[in-house]
Formats: sequence, C-alpha cells, structure tokens
Amino acid sequence: MEKLSRIYVAGHRGLVGSAICRALVRHGYDNLLLRTRAELDLTDSVAVSNFFENEKPDYVFLAAAKVGGILANNTYPADFIRDNLSIQTNVIDASYRAGVKRLLFLGSSCIYPRACPQPMKEEYLLTGPLEPTNRPYALAKIAGIEMCWSYNRQFGTRYLAAMPTNLYGPGDNFDLKTSHVLPALIRKVMDAKARGEQSISVWGSGTPRRELLYSEDLGEACIFLLNLAEDVYGKMLNEDEPPLINIGTGQDLTIRDLASLVCQVLEFDGTLIFDPTRPDGTPRKLMDVTRMENLGWYATTTLEEGIRLTISSAKPMIDACLEHD
Ligand SMILES: NC(=O)c1ccc[n+]([C@@H]2O[C@H](COP(=O)([O-])OP(=O)(O)OC[C@H]3O[C@@H](n4cnc5c(N)ncnc54)[C@H](OP(=O)(O)O)[C@@H]3O)[C@@H](O)[C@H]2O)c1
Repeated sequence: MEKLSRIYVAGHRGLVGSAICRALVRHGYDNLLLRTRAELDLTDSVAVSNFFENEKPDYVFLAAAKVGGILANNTYPADFIRDNLSIQTNVIDASYRAGVKRLLFLGSSCIYPRACPQPMKEEYLLTGPLEPTNRPYALAKIAGIEMCWSYNRQFGTRYLAAMPTNLYGPGDNFDLKTSHVLPALIRKVMDAKARGEQSISVWGSGTPRRELLYSEDLGEACIFLLNLAEDVYGKMLNEDEPPLINIGTGQDLTIRDLASLVCQVLEFDGTLIFDPTRPDGTPRKLMDVTRMENLGWYATTTLEEGIRLTISSAKPMIDACLEHD
C-alpha cells in the first residue's frame, strides 16, 4: 500500500475496523474511505456498487459483519446468514468490478469444526461438523473464504481471508448480557469493587482454555498482511488451498487464570465463585499461528498490558454503566 492509496475500511466503527483504522493512521495512511451503516448499507447491492464505482478504492479491509453471541445467533439465525452473505458478496464482487488491488476479508475461528484438533491449523477447514449454535454465521464466513478463493482463481484477484482468534481491546462491549468473557470479567470486578463486594461469580467451571488477542495487535497484523511483498503475498494465493491465514498469539490460558489476572490488575482480592450451572463452552480454542510467524509477524502486547489498556480506555464507559445501574 502506498501512503496515498485509497483505502476502504468496511465496518470502521467496530472493534476490528476501528483497530485497523488506528493502525493505518499510525503508519501514515490517511486517505481512508469510511462510511457508517447509515451512510452505506452494505446489504444494498446497488448502493455498494455505486460507492465502489465512484470512489474506486485501491485496497479494502472487509471488517463489516453482523456479529453476536450465542443468544443472538440462536434467536436470529436467518439474519446472521442473510446479512453476512449479503455484505460480503456485495463488497467482494464490487471490489472485483472496481479493480481493487488487494482485499482482506475478516472471519473468525468459528469456521473450524466443533471438535477441531488443537491448535487449529488452516488446513482443518471443512474437515468436520461445525458448532451448531453459530452454524449459519460460520457457513456465511466459509462462503466468504470460498468466494475470495474463487474470484482469485477465475478473475486473478488478490483477496486474502484472515481468521482472528478472540479479541479484546478499546471499544469492547461491557454489557453483561452480551459481552465476551474478558470484558465481562473486567466489568464484574469493577462492579464488585464499586459496591464493596468480596466476590465475583464466574460462568462455568473455570477450566476451559481461551486464547485472547489485543485488538490493536490485530490492526497491525491486518496492515502487515496487505503490505506484504508481492512474491510473499502471492504464495498465499494459490490454486491448491484457500487463501486463509490465522491471526492469534498461539498461547491460551484457563478462564480461572484469566479471572485471577483481571483481579490482580484491578487490585481486587475477593474470591472467584465458579457457577457450574452456566455452560463452559468448548474446552479449548487455540489458533495455530505458524503461518503468521513464518511471515515474521508476532503479537506484541502481553495479556496483562492489554487488560490494563482496555480498562483505561473503558473506565468512563463502565463508570457510566455503574451510575446508570
Ligand atoms: N470481536 C471479536 O472477538 C472477533 C474475533 C474474531 C473475528 N472477528 C471478526 O471481525 C469482524 C468484525 O467484528 P467486530 O467484532 O469488529 O464487530 P462489531 O464491533 O459489531 O462491528 C461490526 C461493524 O460492521 C458494521 N456493519 C454491520 N452491518 C452492516 C451493514 N449492513 N452495512 C454497513 N456496515 C455494517 C457496523 O457498522 P455501524 O457501526 O455503522 O453499525 C460495525 O462497524 C467479523 O467478521 C468478526 O467475525 C471478531
């Protein structure tokens, strides 16, 4: 990417899209094309096609998607498959028609089989049944990977699909009804401290293992990928396998250790009470990040540092929630 390249970040207000934008600005790219959903609904194929025809982006980061937890996926499965298929189909096809040089399609680790061997390697895609709770979402994402691969083969495009592990960071969701594990733990500890309580309740047994990547590291990884030299980039786009790469830290820890780390960072010495009536989810979910490491990329933010940065960015938001409660 050149400093003056026209770069479209789809979903720039989301956790991933905003991290990509901040990384682009840090690296001196400021010719960014940004549209909110109200300005450009990516499920509207005519609007998307007009946008690409008029703006002619050189590079695209496709981080717009309908995302949600188990409850939302279960309640609105039709919305999840329809909107995601539609967003990615419109953007990928319009990118091809407008001559976009490179595109990075963001997916997630739920594309891998439910009982996937750990750590999950890219070649395990489509080797077993998916987790039923988010199957419509996962299938839409798999279709997006297949679409990138098919367009590359048929039209010679240069599209790559990146699968990040669980993310956390600035702009995270701290609403206990819909949040992921780490922001939920941060919120619970902050609530307990504010109310003078001596314990927090943690879902499940505490034994499942999770990998967590700081969103700003993901932003850096995305730029690293679209900036690879042509010979290196080209090697990932071949006829024999999908153009797919995992992004993670390659390290995981138990929920119990994660909860203890949050307590330590927030200087809370209360007790953790594990609630076995709540589901544990998959016992382990760890990305194999050998491909990224072979390209020379490693996550640089430690979990402790990332938790501190997330807390300081979220403090006003959490304080507002506490006052509201
Ligand atoms: N968060 C994670 O832990 C995680 C982990 C791995 C992978 N990922 C992947 O990263 C991608 C983005 O996730 P995220 O966590 O950043 O989601 P997010 O915070 O919910 O952001 C989604 C973005 O998509 C935009 N969007 C949704 N529907 C749209 C539409 N119809 N038209 C235009 N824009 C639309 C939203 O725009 P508005 O703000 O204007 O509404 C928002 O900016 C997803 O593919 C997800 O699978 C996320």
